[in-house]
Amino acid sequence: MFMPQLMKKAEAGEKLAALTCYDASYARILVQAGVDILLVGDSLGMTVQGHDTTLPVSLEQMVYHSAAVRRGAGNAFILVDLPFGSYQQSPGQAFASAAQLLVAGANMVKLEGGAIMVETVEFLVRRGVPVCAHLGLLPQSVNRTGYRAQARDNQAALQLLEDAANLEQAGAELLVLESIPALLASEVTSSLRIPTIGIGAGPQCDGQVLVLNDILGLTEKPPRFAHNFMLGATAIEEAVRRYVTAVKAGEFPAAEHAF
Ligand code: KIV
Repeated sequence: MFMPQLMKKAEAGEKLAALTCYDASYARILVQAGVDILLVGDSLGMTVQGHDTTLPVSLEQMVYHSAAVRRGAGNAFILVDLPFGSYQQSPGQAFASAAQLLVAGANMVKLEGGAIMVETVEFLVRRGVPVCAHLGLLPQSVNRTGYRAQARDNQAALQLLEDAANLEQAGAELLVLESIPALLASEVTSSLRIPTIGIGAGPQCDGQVLVLNDILGLTEKPPRFAHNFMLGATAIEEAVRRYVTAVKAGEFPAAEHAF
C-alpha cells in the first residue's frame, strides 16, 4: 500500500490505526488484524533490546528490522524511524540513511523535530523519500526534556502549530503528535491537510499509534496513554483487532488517556 491509499481513507473520515512492529511474525498478525500502518519504531531499543532510551539504536539495526517486517507484511504500509544520529547532521546524511531504509522495505521514514528539520524534510521529499514528521514529546531528545508531556504553555503550543504548518509546507505527508494536550492536537489536526497520528494526544487526531508491547500487556510500567487490549482476549490477533476496532470507532483513546 502507498500513501495515496492511506490518504483516501483519512479523507473519507476513517481513522487510521497504527502500531509499532519489529519482526515478520508480528507483521503478519498486524496485517491480518487490519492495522493500516506498521511503524518500525526505534522504540525497539527499549522493547526488544532492553535499553532505557531509543538513543543506542543504530541505522544498521533499523535496516535489519525493516527488512524482517517487510517479509511478513506483504505490501502493507511500513513507516520506519530514522534513528538518533542518522539524520540530524545534514540533509545529505538524512538522504543516505533514508535510502537504506527504503531499500530495506520502508514506504516512508519518520524523523523527530520542528523548525530544525524543515530543510531536511524538503530535501528528502524532493528526492522521492516520503516523510512523516514527529512533534511534541521527542524520545530522541529525552536528555533535554525527560519523558514529559510537551507544549503545555501558550508559547510552546503556538510554536508547535507553526512547526506543523512549516513541515507540511516542506512536504511531510504524515505527522505524529506525541504527548501533547488533546485540545492542541485537535487544533493542529484541523489546521493541516495531512493526517495526524496521535500517541497521548487525544481522540481528535486522524489516527492513533501505540507501542505493540504496551497493548499486549508486555510493558512493566506502560505509559498512562496506553491500554492493554490483551485483557479479556484469548489471542494476540484478537487483541490487535480490538485495538483497531476501538480506534476506528473513536472509542480509543478515552478521556483518561489524554493530557
Ligand atoms: O518508536 C516509536 O515507537 C515511536 C512511537 C512512540 C510513535 O516513534
